[in-house]
Amino acid sequence: MSIETTQDHLYQEVADRIERLIEKQTLKVGDKLLSVRTLSKEQGISLSTAFQAYYHLESKGLVEARPQSGYYVKFSPRHMLEVPRCAKPAEEAIPVTIDQMISSVYNDLRSDKLINFSLGAPAAELLPAAKLNKAVVQALRSAKDNCLNYEHIQGNVQLRKQIARLSFNWGGALSEEDIVVTAGCMEALSLTLKAITRPGDAVAIESPTYFGIFQVMESLGLKVVEIPTDPTSGIDLDVLEGSIRKFNIRACLFVCNFNNPMGSCLSDEKKKKLVDLLTRHSVPLIEDDIYGELYFGKSRPRTCKSFDKKGIVIQCGSFSKSLAPGYRIGWAVPGKFTEDVIRLKRMNTVATNTLAQAAIAEFLENGRYELHLRHLRRALHTQCLRYIQAIHENFPEGTRVTRPQGGFALWLELDKKMDTYKLHKRALKAGIGIAPGQIFSSRGRFSNCFRMSFGLPWSDRVEHGIRTLGELARKP
Ligand SMILES: Cc1ncc(COP(=O)(O)O)c(C=O)c1O
Repeated sequence: MSIETTQDHLYQEVADRIERLIEKQTLKVGDKLLSVRTLSKEQGISLSTAFQAYYHLESKGLVEARPQSGYYVKFSPRHMLEVPRCAKPAEEAIPVTIDQMISSVYNDLRSDKLINFSLGAPAAELLPAAKLNKAVVQALRSAKDNCLNYEHIQGNVQLRKQIARLSFNWGGALSEEDIVVTAGCMEALSLTLKAITRPGDAVAIESPTYFGIFQVMESLGLKVVEIPTDPTSGIDLDVLEGSIRKFNIRACLFVCNFNNPMGSCLSDEKKKKLVDLLTRHSVPLIEDDIYGELYFGKSRPRTCKSFDKKGIVIQCGSFSKSLAPGYRIGWAVPGKFTEDVIRLKRMNTVATNTLAQAAIAEFLENGRYELHLRHLRRALHTQCLRYIQAIHENFPEGTRVTRPQGGFALWLELDKKMDTYKLHKRALKAGIGIAPGQIFSSRGRFSNCFRMSFGLPWSDRVEHGIRTLGELARKP
């Protein structure tokens, strides 16, 4: 282990422990922390490591340095706004009809000049552009045909091997033969849904859910059954079981790790229960694990796939949220449906972009991904806390906000009288983009909620954006 990694580990470890004390309110807002010298002595660490631990907590907005006085607890994520309520969608299986609203919102959000809190990926400055560019050059140099030819339908074998290696961290043990590379996660969802359903079938989804999922469902002529989803612990398994019987559900599509928009994450125990339930009813689960790598805790949350003994879970993922959304590289692990998915892939897009696959394979082979992810997770965690704090300070009383443990989305619930589609229009005039709640439900519900991405690094501009939104949110 390099000296740099050891130091890195040490200050992080000390900072994490102090953070836990703040979270548990053992250290309360306003409490004075140990002096840097005492911290260094008591913990047997150098003065610079002690300083680094405090700088780190300061960058998260948890502590502040007061001139000639030392460090104080400034903010506790616990002592703040409540989490939004769990929604109770009507029990029904209905065709999707929100395409027009989604198109209208996304037309509105095209300007580069916006303070864009509707961002669907971490800001470009958090992504490893220079190293990826190097990987592109290297991929071109090593390719026999300058990456001009079609890649195999199933995908670049080196890339599939690298994805298979990543699966160890998800609690899996895949080989390259288990994986089909796709044009982003969207294509993985579309192909796997096509492989296991027929038009008119009912598919269970979380409520609220990512609007792209509604669009895939609509394009395939599927009906959706929205299952109530707790902002912290995820889908309600009892309601799901009832709905499976009532609506003859043919498949489920869930984002079990840091779902979009609420950031909920199923515990291992709940994932196991979900897989057992679906196995009993022979209902396949498409597990969209696109946010699994962006965890703030100690380790990566497991996938439902890792609890699957009967082959009912189809896992999908992509590099869009962690590396390069524009490269459009994702994958599916379709199990017994692999041949069907390869056939559909051939009909859909023939093959995935050759150069982008080769470049990501090169990037992963050089061991750059893990290091990048470590930086990205740390940056997103810090941004998450900063944003929550600013919302706490600037939004009207009664506002509720989620506390995700991964990903980069916050879900806010405002006063019942607020219409967030109108808020979105007013925010646009002030140069701010948000994603109104209505586009996260097949019936345009959640009209007093909206999604705010914390993918933009903290800055005066972001702070100004949150302050302005907070003011707008006071006027229905
Ligand atoms: C839950 C979820 N699935 C899939 C996607 C689409 O992923 P990709 O850009 O890899 O197609 C997104 C993008 O926001 C998402 O939030």
